[in-house]
Amino acid sequence: MRWGWTREPDPSWPIGVFDSGLGGLTVWRALRRQLPQERLVYFADTARLPYGDRSPEEILTFVRQILRWMQAQPVKVVVMACNTSSALALEQVQQEFALPILGLILPGAQAALAQGSRIGVIATAATVKSRAYSKAIREYSALDPKRFPQPVHCWEQACPAFVPLIEAGQLNSLELQQAAKRYLQPLLRQGIDTLVYGCTHYPLLDPLLKSLLPPSVKRVDPSVALVRSLARELGLWGLRRPPTAPHDEPHRFYVSGDPERFAQLATPWLGFRPQVEQVELPALDVNNFRRT
Ligand code: DGL
Repeated sequence: MRWGWTREPDPSWPIGVFDSGLGGLTVWRALRRQLPQERLVYFADTARLPYGDRSPEEILTFVRQILRWMQAQPVKVVVMACNTSSALALEQVQQEFALPILGLILPGAQAALAQGSRIGVIATAATVKSRAYSKAIREYSALDPKRFPQPVHCWEQACPAFVPLIEAGQLNSLELQQAAKRYLQPLLRQGIDTLVYGCTHYPLLDPLLKSLLPPSVKRVDPSVALVRSLARELGLWGLRRPPTAPHDEPHRFYVSGDPERFAQLATPWLGFRPQVEQVELPALDVNNFRRT
């Protein structure tokens, strides 16, 4: 087994999923679709979003706090349903925590390479700055020159307006439409054949983005590939919840900010109104990082 746990995990334990806000619900939905028997614990760090303009040090601090909280639930595995955390903190915390932690960058890069060779990535400013997607795409394609004989190109575009507008519930605003056009333009000029949603909030904009792209451009949501590899790993570890296990335990949702607000905004994406609890602020040291 590649990982260690601080105590012996049980297949009945839930999977921990976290993001800064609503975006991780796109991963939550992929988990529900692809692993319907699993129980999920979702945490949204809404008191400190957006993550996309935070420094690597802040992101690492937040991720460590969230993982310690997740470990105490306990969960059998953590899915970082946040590209920014995956790009900036995954490798570090994988070494620090006795708990398997999966991120989105590698599955996203692999899924993109399966689709095309002129790859555009839209992501937060922090993810773009890290160049995590370009590096993963370059390294993964270099590993298998037979499969990827032609050079692969990757362009990354930061979309800082998206997350605040999505979190404000302004999905149909003119501002969002104009921002989307502005962000896609440079990628379209490069003649991309594939577009990666390099932030988990962006699949929520799929109808808009799809309408702005030529039909030949393939859209990649990394969460599909992430959940596929998670399913494989859970099987290898003997940690898949049996399909016959009772479904008496509801999915759990936690936030660091306002639970009511999150419940309201999440309802259309989940298809039901979730019960949301606020995590004790001292446990997350939220006040030290609250935006003014
Ligand atoms: N949804 C997250 C991501 O995938 C974080 C976005 C943000 O808070 O800026 O990067």
